[in-house]
Amino acid sequence: MFADRVLSGMRPTGSLHLGHYHGVLKNWVQMQNEYECLFFVADWHALTTHYDTPQVIEQSVWDMVVDWLAAGVNPARATLFIQSRVPEHAELHLLLSMITPLGWLERVPTYKDQQEKLSEKDLSTYGFLGYPLLQSADILIYRATQVPVGEDQVPHIEFTREIARRFNHIYGREAGFEEKAEAAVKKLGSKKAKLYHELRTRFQEQGDDAALASAKSLLDEQQSLSHGDLERLFGYLEGGGKMILSEPQAMLTAASKMPGLDGQKMSKSYNNTISLREDEASVSKKIRTMPTDPARIRRSDVGNPDKCPVWQLHKVYSNEQTRQWVMQGCKSAGIGCIECKQPVIDAVLAEQRPMRERAQLYLDDPALVRNIIADGCEKARKLASETMRDVREAMGISYG
Ligand code: TRP
Ligand code: SF4
Repeated sequence: MFADRVLSGMRPTGSLHLGHYHGVLKNWVQMQNEYECLFFVADWHALTTHYDTPQVIEQSVWDMVVDWLAAGVNPARATLFIQSRVPEHAELHLLLSMITPLGWLERVPTYKDQQEKLSEKDLSTYGFLGYPLLQSADILIYRATQVPVGEDQVPHIEFTREIARRFNHIYGREAGFEEKAEAAVKKLGSKKAKLYHELRTRFQEQGDDAALASAKSLLDEQQSLSHGDLERLFGYLEGGGKMILSEPQAMLTAASKMPGLDGQKMSKSYNNTISLREDEASVSKKIRTMPTDPARIRRSDVGNPDKCPVWQLHKVYSNEQTRQWVMQGCKSAGIGCIECKQPVIDAVLAEQRPMRERAQLYLDDPALVRNIIADGCEKARKLASETMRDVREAMGISYG
């Protein structure tokens, strides 16, 4: 029940560009082959900051899913869904809000940072303060073990871990926990029970993390135990109560080094992007008119690639041989800037071609995308409802 599961979300607040591709999507595409993956459109998260421009969200949701598919996210391998179509996220968010100290939310660094950064918006709302808790609900509801995120999101994962711990601490207690846990150990069979005890002792007495990990994987393999017994056995390893929600790990996505058209990081706010499926003519034009080393005014002036944004793109797209050609040609005025840009134009177009082709399939038949999402939402709801059953029961609101 606690086998590896990857979950990540993206806010639909505008169209995706090559920075998203190199930073996030390539990583998702790789992970879908190695793990069970869930990827979702965080439309409620988008509303926390874009509550006054709902058109942006509505338009971006479907474009974004097409972008994911274009980038190679494979619906046969990963479950793709929309947050608001799985209303259980909202229920868990509400229930977790009962045990979330205000101070914890106020201290999450993104709270003040974003308010300062987006000062033109009024972000002193209840919804925005709760942003990290909604994210916790997203993660905990699937009992995700790994969450690929950028560095700025690490505090949100840490916050999620604290919420899970607090939840388990409050609701994982039950009368006679130890006896029940020991009874569950017996059900493992004598050999595995002995191993479980040994590993548990090694962890509790010597802080041996490897023993803890082995014990957890021993439990992952158990198929015949009841859900409640597994929660007890996981909880008994580390503490004195059931483990109802499991703590996720952040899986740090290396910061995108993708440079934009002006040499700064590619970002919508710098207006220096190439969008994921931008048409060929526009891509060529954008690169052809990119600024170069400002000291190289005439063709006969020598240049310095280190002072040129085009060189940053060569570092992403060109092989060693081409890079040497640039270095030498630029420093000796042997090549012109238009000439220098051509291999970059060719490489970007080549990278985008399969993406544009895959996207075309979905643009021609939008029902395909709707169906992928409908399937994904259904799968997600099924997983979410299992956790909700346990959560409601733990909180004493499962009447039946
Ligand atoms: N906050 C994330 C971001 O801005 C998006 C997000 C929402 C998310 N819920 C999530 C990411 C759950 C990972 C897991 O990028
Ligand atoms: Fe930049 Fe290339 Fe021109 Fe040199 S030759 S300034 S690296 S575009």
